[in-house]
Amino acid sequence: MSKMKSIMVLFGGQSGEHEVSLESAQSVLNALDRTRYEVQTIGISKGGKWFWGVEPKDWKTSDVVSNDNPQVTLVHDPSDPRFVALDGKELPNQGKFDIIFPVLHGPFGEDGTIQGLFEMSNVPYVGSGVLGASLGMDKDRMKAVFAEAGLPMARTFTLLRTQYNDDSDQILNRIELEIGYPCFIKPANLGSSVGISKAYNREDLRKSIELAALYDRKLVIEENINGREIEVSVLGNESPQASVPGEILPANDFYDYEAKYHDTSSRLLIPAPLETETMNKLQKMAVKAFQAVEASGLSRVDFFLTSDQKIYVNEINTMPGFTQISMYPKLWEASGIPYLELIDRLISLGLERFKDLRNRRISR
Ligand SMILES: Nc1ncnc2c1ncn2[C@@H]1O[C@H](COP(=O)(O)OP(=O)(O)O)[C@@H](O)[C@H]1O
Ligand SMILES: [Mg+2]
Repeated sequence: MSKMKSIMVLFGGQSGEHEVSLESAQSVLNALDRTRYEVQTIGISKGGKWFWGVEPKDWKTSDVVSNDNPQVTLVHDPSDPRFVALDGKELPNQGKFDIIFPVLHGPFGEDGTIQGLFEMSNVPYVGSGVLGASLGMDKDRMKAVFAEAGLPMARTFTLLRTQYNDDSDQILNRIELEIGYPCFIKPANLGSSVGISKAYNREDLRKSIELAALYDRKLVIEENINGREIEVSVLGNESPQASVPGEILPANDFYDYEAKYHDTSSRLLIPAPLETETMNKLQKMAVKAFQAVEASGLSRVDFFLTSDQKIYVNEINTMPGFTQISMYPKLWEASGIPYLELIDRLISLGLERFKDLRNRRISR
């Protein structure tokens, strides 16, 4: 009999989506079958410190160090990857594990940075690699590869903070000419609608740019698409599958942070009521988007669908919300893969990708 797989669940993290990650991780931990997996946890504080054995449900804090939870670090010794406690104390199982499940959303978790650390340390992990995660996080570069793949998108203007500071009036004129109102202003590298606003006039636009520029040096400004919000889940590595589409009925003017996490009147329709032809198109596009950024494991691809059946790709999320009531797992459930099995598949896909990657020549 083979020994139980040991899963290291990482959560929290240095992003605006810290709290969302705690909720996703709690769901994953509740669901993981303890008769088949040995489960360890590490909570990453908002300050970026890693604490061994924290339970997400008890961890509403950011940087409080508990004596019971040693601060740890991942050792980048490719021949013996493990965690060690900074105070030198013994960790269970010598800090070793079979695979990491980074249930982390946003910068430092979903953007390729932590994936780089995993690669350096030679450890298997769930989800996209460095390239997929970073392309999926940067809305400007994501659009560049989507465009190359022929995916339809809203008209977009990419703006550097420095360009704006150099000549704001000229930039505002250009945006009005090229995009017009209403438009959406977004930090290029963020998630959960943080720093995003909808502008209806020049005054709004100015304020929105200044707000978004607090979060990032690069912004994207998009034309407003008046349409339904449809999402498709994708699962797999080199031959990914698409789920049935789902629909979001946001409670607010748009699906902002409030509507996403606080307002219970936002609703999900699963599956989305759609013509078969539209559904097929959306699924094909979702797979194309996944492949365009070279994602692996899982992603959720988000669309707008207008009343005249025009489809626009909005974005890809390489580590979508993962609570039991989140769109990503719900769509798989509706497509025949229950939550528990989904986690199993993600773990297998992570291990398979690791094997694939190691199975290459690295020098002459
Ligand atoms: N071009 C657009 N037209 C209409 N609504 C938009 C547009 N861009 C974003 N939105 C609205 O804002 C929400 C958040 O934008 P999104 O790009 O998905 O950011 P995030 O990565 O933070 O989820 C979307 O779910 C949608 O409700
Ligand atoms: Mg979104």
